[in-house]
Amino acid sequence: MDRKSLIRAAIENLPNSYAPYSHFHVSAALLCKDGTVYTGFNIENATYTPTVCAERSAFFRAINEGKREFEAIVICGGLNGVITDYCSPCGVCRQVMKEFCGPDFLVIMAKSEEDYIEKTLDELLPLSFGAEMLGK
Ligand code: THU
Repeated sequence: MDRKSLIRAAIENLPNSYAPYSHFHVSAALLCKDGTVYTGFNIENATYTPTVCAERSAFFRAINEGKREFEAIVICGGLNGVITDYCSPCGVCRQVMKEFCGPDFLVIMAKSEEDYIEKTLDELLPLSFGAEMLGK
């Protein structure tokens, strides 16, 4: 799948985000190596800590469906669902990516189908800790 289609999938999913506390709506579209796409959005909670980010929502959906190999993820979002800047993945989500993705996994932060920046996971999480440190 091309970048534009993946970005479109993330942007179209943004209105579904459940963010009544921060009002910061985030959406993600995760591309598996087999070509399938899983979207996700952030899901907040009145007690705050159970909140899950869009990226992890997408990953956990895919992982629950048996997917284990991932190519790229698009992230977009902003206050009140208005995209004004690139949305960067939080540290926890980067660590979840590390669990299931190689260093070349592509993280695409999009403002629109034409305006985006992309970084590899290795660029976003250098000197990372992973299963290999545990001899796995
Ligand atoms: N959030 C995400 O979903 N992904 C990110 O990459 C950054 C932050 C969510 C979590 C919370 O619901 C809201 O944005 C404000 O932090």
